[in-house]
Amino acid sequence: MLAELEHLARGAAAILCLLVFHVALSDFRAQARMSGGTQTCISMERDALLSFKAGLLDPVGRLSSWQGEECCQWEGVRCNSRTGHVIKLDLRNTYMPDYDAVMNGYARLNRLNSQSLFIDEMSSSLAVLQQLRYLDLSGNDFNGTTIPLFVGSLENLRYLNLSWSGFGGRIPSQLGNLSNLEYLDISGNYYQQVDIGDNYLYRLHTVDLAWLKHLPLLRNLDMSDVDLSHVQDWVYLLNMHSSLIVLRLVDCGLTSTMSATSKSNLTHLEVLDLSCNSFNTTLEHYWFWDLTGLKKLHLGVCDWHGRIPKELGNMTSLQVIDLGFNYLVGLIPSNLQNSCNLKVLIFEYNNINASIEEFMDRLPRCSWSTIQEFSVGYASMSGKLPIWIGNMTSLTVLSAGQNMITGTVPIGVGALGNLTVLKLGGNKLEGMLAKEHFSGLQNLESLDLSGNSLKMHIDPNWVPPFRLKSINLESCTVGPRFPEWLRWQTNIDILYLGNTSLDDVIPDWFWMTFSRALFLDASGNMLRGSLPLNLQHMSTKSLSLGSNNLTGLIPRLLPVNISKLHLSSNSFSGSLPLGLKAPLLEELSLANNQIIGIIP
Ligand SMILES: *[C@@H]1O[C@H](CO)[C@@H](O)[C@H](O)[C@H]1NC(C)=O
Ligand SMILES: *[C@@H]1O[C@H](CO)[C@@H](O)[C@H](O)[C@H]1NC(C)=O
Ligand SMILES: *[C@@H]1O[C@H](CO)[C@@H](O)[C@H](O)[C@H]1NC(C)=O
Ligand SMILES: *[C@@H]1O[C@H](CO)[C@@H](O)[C@H](O)[C@H]1NC(C)=O
Ligand SMILES: *[C@@H]1O[C@H](CO)[C@@H](O)[C@H](O)[C@H]1NC(C)=O
Ligand SMILES: *[C@@H]1O[C@H](CO)[C@@H](O)[C@H](O)[C@H]1NC(C)=O
Repeated sequence: MLAELEHLARGAAAILCLLVFHVALSDFRAQARMSGGTQTCISMERDALLSFKAGLLDPVGRLSSWQGEECCQWEGVRCNSRTGHVIKLDLRNTYMPDYDAVMNGYARLNRLNSQSLFIDEMSSSLAVLQQLRYLDLSGNDFNGTTIPLFVGSLENLRYLNLSWSGFGGRIPSQLGNLSNLEYLDISGNYYQQVDIGDNYLYRLHTVDLAWLKHLPLLRNLDMSDVDLSHVQDWVYLLNMHSSLIVLRLVDCGLTSTMSATSKSNLTHLEVLDLSCNSFNTTLEHYWFWDLTGLKKLHLGVCDWHGRIPKELGNMTSLQVIDLGFNYLVGLIPSNLQNSCNLKVLIFEYNNINASIEEFMDRLPRCSWSTIQEFSVGYASMSGKLPIWIGNMTSLTVLSAGQNMITGTVPIGVGALGNLTVLKLGGNKLEGMLAKEHFSGLQNLESLDLSGNSLKMHIDPNWVPPFRLKSINLESCTVGPRFPEWLRWQTNIDILYLGNTSLDDVIPDWFWMTFSRALFLDASGNMLRGSLPLNLQHMSTKSLSLGSNNLTGLIPRLLPVNISKLHLSSNSFSGSLPLGLKAPLLEELSLANNQIIGIIP
């Protein structure tokens, strides 16, 4: 089941690319709090702000302070303390619509979001604010309108953030007039033509990035989600920006296969994110390999093939390497000994086709204690886990599921006190798991050991150091006794105990301990006993107890949100309760029991 979900994840990777929410620059927030003061507002600028306000809808009254004379005190407005000119307008909407809402039919991203300002046509009155240095309108709803041309006249701007604002159409080349710009973020602009019942997401686009060359001071450029598929010379154009520190072009439809012709000019670049583009070429000899100052390199979901280049060994500042969801083959290069800053290594969903032990032996020793995430799930890895894995003391995520890893789970894993996610499911691991394998895991939240030939041998009085949210032990040998240590796991959302050789009475604490859980599966065991007749206190959406030896009646009151109930192949008896209330039920299987009477 979890494996299925993860397969879905690969298919949905492109959609996930829509949801790359970027980390806010906290220093700007701090700056926003510090400024302000007792300036006098310039009346022409006040009028401009008021006519901007008049052109928008503000359902929750975010701009309710925009009245009276002193516009320098208005929410989001800052003036220069000497001249009184408005220098900063920060109307960022920090409330983001939730993930489900976005995924469900691509509804207009921000219209779901009452914190938005809704602007069908931005008043060009703002062009009066000629001293503006900082403009942030991100997270609001511009309803598919184009970025207004007058923005190009605000020539003092240093910071322009129009991300996640539902802008559409072509990027105006007038942005090239903002020659002082240091930060430009126009990422995440999607809109949908709701009025014509359209289910297609439109995005900002451009065929020509020549205007970029007039922005020589750019430090931080994020054009993620802008359609750049028709821009042929993007590498060449961006290579002129030797001042760039952060460059993000996630999901831009980039395909060009330009390789390193001349030396790269981006000598200050620290963050390069080209995820979710379809380069469909070998990763070797690409233009960015001489950027030896890079700290974060995000190249996931890019259709790279071939080997992982040895040039990686010269990028000794690297902290994050994300090469997940590609078609890469083979080990990491053997020259990483000076990469002592590694924190995040993502190689999942590739065809590595090598031993995980050899792979990990190429991780430099100096990084053993710095690496926080090591993700190599679905990567055709074989071999054993290295015994020194317990020396990776900062590890928070160890994800190596769905490979062909053999051998035992090294006891050292149990010492990884920072570990929150341990995924080793879907491998060929074998042997005994004792409490020592878990004794130091006080931060563990998610444990997946499913689909291995592991046998848990744990003292019934053991009190685990962790409170898990998700446990998957499917097909491991956990029984015959129902594991008493689960009793302490009251934070469980997801519990899979299918086919775990449980031969016991289902404990009465089960229904209280897991009352908050969403998915409960203990099918394919030899569980005995009956179910409580009232399960209304439970939050469960999916309850699977099929193929056990359960007896008694089908519960009269089911969990209110239940959508899947599988109780087939047991020995339930009696008649079905009349008036079962389960309005969200989608799947019900009661086959192969001793239930009698009519179906209500
Ligand atoms: C722009 O605003 C978004 C939030 O709306 C934020 O996540 C992002 O970091 C900002 N971009 C820059 C370059 O500051
Ligand atoms: C951009 O600059 C050019 C040349 O300086 C000028 O002609 C044009 O009007 C400017 N555009 C905007 C939108 O300010
Ligand atoms: C490198 O950057 C400088 C300064 O921005 C620029 O003048 C030069 O043309 C760039 N070189 C290349 C090859 O793009
Ligand atoms: C690494 O850098 C050194 C020194 O700059 C250079 O001689 C060598 O060719 C580079 N190696 C790779 C694999 O790029
Ligand atoms: C690995 O951990 C063991 C046990 O904690 C320790 O004795 C050893 O020195 C560590 N090795 C390295 C290279 O840190
Ligand atoms: C967790 O990681 C930090 C460094 O990131 C380290 O200092 C600490 O010892 C680790 N905790 C445990 C319990 O290993």
